[in-house]
Amino acid sequence: MLDEQAKKTMLQKIPHGLYICGVKDGEEVNGFTLSWLMQASFKPPLVVICVNQNSISHQMIKNSGFFAVSFLEEGQKDLAQKFFKQMRRVGNKFEDVEFYLGKTGCPIISDSLGYIECQVVDVVARGDHTVFVGEVIAAGVHREGKQMLLETTGWQYGG
Ligand SMILES: Cc1cc2nc3c(=O)[nH]c(=O)nc-3n(C[C@H](O)[C@H](O)[C@H](O)COP(=O)(O)O)c2cc1C
Repeated sequence: MLDEQAKKTMLQKIPHGLYICGVKDGEEVNGFTLSWLMQASFKPPLVVICVNQNSISHQMIKNSGFFAVSFLEEGQKDLAQKFFKQMRRVGNKFEDVEFYLGKTGCPIISDSLGYIECQVVDVVARGDHTVFVGEVIAAGVHREGKQMLLETTGWQYGG
């Protein structure tokens, strides 16, 4: 039998960063706060992200086949908090956030350390999140700085 408490305690010890994942579907853009991201290959450069199947962003990534990841700097908690919220409830999250569209057409946060843009090359739909395997097809550095870590925010996503 799985020890539920031990499972939760240990899974919450997996270290994560905190990012804004920018997505699009046609002309529409959206973004959400993402922590489940990691590199998955050097050649070709791949990352995986895990996206809640109930989110609008999930559908948008499936439809477009692209996503962008903006890397937040420590201290940018307000920005992270804005993108927790569901588009279904709050509407356009980018209304008062400066952004631009990358090569993929996905939104990139101007006030961030930098970004990667990815083309979805594989999808694993199991459980309540879908694993999107993305090939990094563009990247840029905006400025130097220390990236935001989930641990230092006091927030949790996992367990
Ligand atoms: C600290 C934190 C980390 C999160 N990490 C993820 C994540 O890795 N994947 C994910 O799908 N949702 C994650 N979320 C939840 C989404 O940000 C949230 O569901 C968002 O409202 C989805 O937006 P949408 O419905 O507009 O697509 C996280 C939330 C918090 C508070």
